[in-house]
Amino acid sequence: MSFALERRLALDHHPRMDHFQYRGGVLHCEELALPELAQRFGTPLYVYSRQTLIDHYRRLSEAWTPVAPWLCFSVKSCSNLHILRIMRECGAAFDVVSGGEMARALEAGADPSRIVFAGVGKSDAEIRDALGAGIGFFNVESEAEMDNLASIAESMGRRAPAALRVNPDVDPKTHVYTTTGKRETKFGVDLERARRVFHDFARRPGLDLCAIHLHIGSPVNTVEPYIQSITKGLGLIEQLRREGFALRAINIGGGYGANYEDHQAPSALDYAAQVVPLLKGADLTVMLEPGRMITANAGILLTRTLYTKQSGDKHFLIVDGSMTELIRPALYGSFHFVWPVQPAGGAVPPQRSASLKMEGGMLVDVVGPVCESSDFLAKERWLPPVIRGDLLCIFTTGAYGFVMASQYNSRPRPAEVLVEGDQVRVIRRRETYDDLVALERAAG
Ligand SMILES: Cc1ncc(COP(=O)(O)O)c(C=O)c1O
Repeated sequence: MSFALERRLALDHHPRMDHFQYRGGVLHCEELALPELAQRFGTPLYVYSRQTLIDHYRRLSEAWTPVAPWLCFSVKSCSNLHILRIMRECGAAFDVVSGGEMARALEAGADPSRIVFAGVGKSDAEIRDALGAGIGFFNVESEAEMDNLASIAESMGRRAPAALRVNPDVDPKTHVYTTTGKRETKFGVDLERARRVFHDFARRPGLDLCAIHLHIGSPVNTVEPYIQSITKGLGLIEQLRREGFALRAINIGGGYGANYEDHQAPSALDYAAQVVPLLKGADLTVMLEPGRMITANAGILLTRTLYTKQSGDKHFLIVDGSMTELIRPALYGSFHFVWPVQPAGGAVPPQRSASLKMEGGMLVDVVGPVCESSDFLAKERWLPPVIRGDLLCIFTTGAYGFVMASQYNSRPRPAEVLVEGDQVRVIRRRETYDDLVALERAAG
């Protein structure tokens, strides 16, 4: 192997996480200093780096080239139209889980025949719309849904392309709320039932049942659970083929990890290196549904310190961002690295890590203004001294961040801005108090 190639592979296994870097003691997004963005657009503010999105997409695409997969960007991870357009320009297909996500993907210019539609509870209207639009695949989660899909397609004189979601009973070793591939979850049908579903439904005139879908959880920070689930999936396909069914595709789902802390997740190449050999030569179209791996590190939440407070031995930073902008810590106990945008004494973080300790620093909980004890963004973190007015960056919030934002406590949702080099534009304006009541006023 040439030195250049070895070096490229080494870099790919420890790829640059993002384009949020400290320069001269100030955090920048690409070429722009974050204090200027806070000044211009206010806080709390979601800031995305276009180059980071593109880098992560390209790494995935290059790593999986040998099986030329459909990379179906998982819209649920970050559904802003402008982000979807970037994904489409990169060449992505799309993974949607609702009629609303399908509408977004189509508005972003997605080719409907490269959209896959998952979800345990698709309504009749959603199924009809998706059939009418000519989407690529329905990922079907139960016998009852398969029957309904077939009936609706038959009534429309259509043949619905369908993948059966199979639950391979594999433990992805992630949070119980985001575990989907174990037998006792609500998703998919187990391996024994899967065969029966093909026997019962594959010959219905309204169905082109030609694929299986696997998604075991998210994030899955080791490769082994994928190997187990894909091996079981391929075994099922082989058996079904022997029984006379024409299987053309396998969708191996999403869940690929992102670095919330340095070196926490395998790289795109790490996953591909072990999974591609299983799929190569299987004579199947391969589909993936990555979300977090592309978007998590492409976005940060910028928030300003409103007050500092001490209760007993505890120090709190009360900031203007909260669980209404970022619910992941409250919902899953998720870790997000937090650091001041202009740290006192120029103390840039040596690494992004949950166990970072700091001489001369303060041990704090970072909390928001919402009236819930679960309203926290970070707990027990060592930070350089922070005072009222200081900006904090909540890192790795591009995935499952803004998409889960709410207006609870009648808090208008924040703006989202997109940085490209030294340019920035608003891709969703900050909501106003008028926005909060507009639909109620319209009701008379
Ligand atoms: C069926 C399915 N596909 C893809 C994803 C995307 O997961 P991730 O963003 O972790 O890649 C999810 C997320 O839960 C999912 O449920």
